[in-house]
Amino acid sequence: MPNVVGLAGSLRKRSYNRALLQAATELAPAGLEIDVATIDGIPLYDGDVEERSGVPQVVERLKDRIARADGLLIVTPEYNNSIPGVLKNALDWLTRPPKDIPRVFGDRPVGLVGATPGRGGTRFAQSAWLPIFRTLGVRPFFGKVLYVDGASKLFDDDLRLIDEGTRQRLREYLAGLAAFTSR
Ligand code: FNR
Repeated sequence: MPNVVGLAGSLRKRSYNRALLQAATELAPAGLEIDVATIDGIPLYDGDVEERSGVPQVVERLKDRIARADGLLIVTPEYNNSIPGVLKNALDWLTRPPKDIPRVFGDRPVGLVGATPGRGGTRFAQSAWLPIFRTLGVRPFFGKVLYVDGASKLFDDDLRLIDEGTRQRLREYLAGLAAFTSR
């Protein structure tokens, strides 16, 4: 059964993107397992720290987890029409040292979804990921798109995804990602 590492790009405990990833674990088709990882605890990238002490353990562990998986599912928030700094920072650490990029990311299927409370549904943030995918050498899943907008109305107080239309779109996205990952 293919398994993908799921990474939500927010540190907020009540993040809609974390909640969307949680929903994805429940709505994934029988053939797809989602291993929820986190960017919590990843320090700010600092080249001096890297030179002195190497890549932090928390980053090495996440790199290994991605390398062992069949694919990656990124759940991106959007800040100022782009990728939030905390998520980009995590990704920057994950690409160190560059010689590890093929092991961690090379030719790996990658899904990309995201949620905003506003109308955009992470359209701009998802576009901002595209040149990064080229650097990583991943295989992006373009078969379906999922922009989740109006997020504050789609989740209940416990951050469970309750909007049936969104649940169905997420199901369909994940079915497509599962088929793409199994190819
Ligand atoms: C935002 N937000 C936002 N939303 C959007 O649709 N487009 C945008 O450009 C921005 N820009 C932006 C900048 C900054 C600095 C903040 C803090 C927020 C709103 C954002 O989508 C919202 O805070 C989400 O709830 C963030 O995702 P999580 O933390 O809920 O996963």
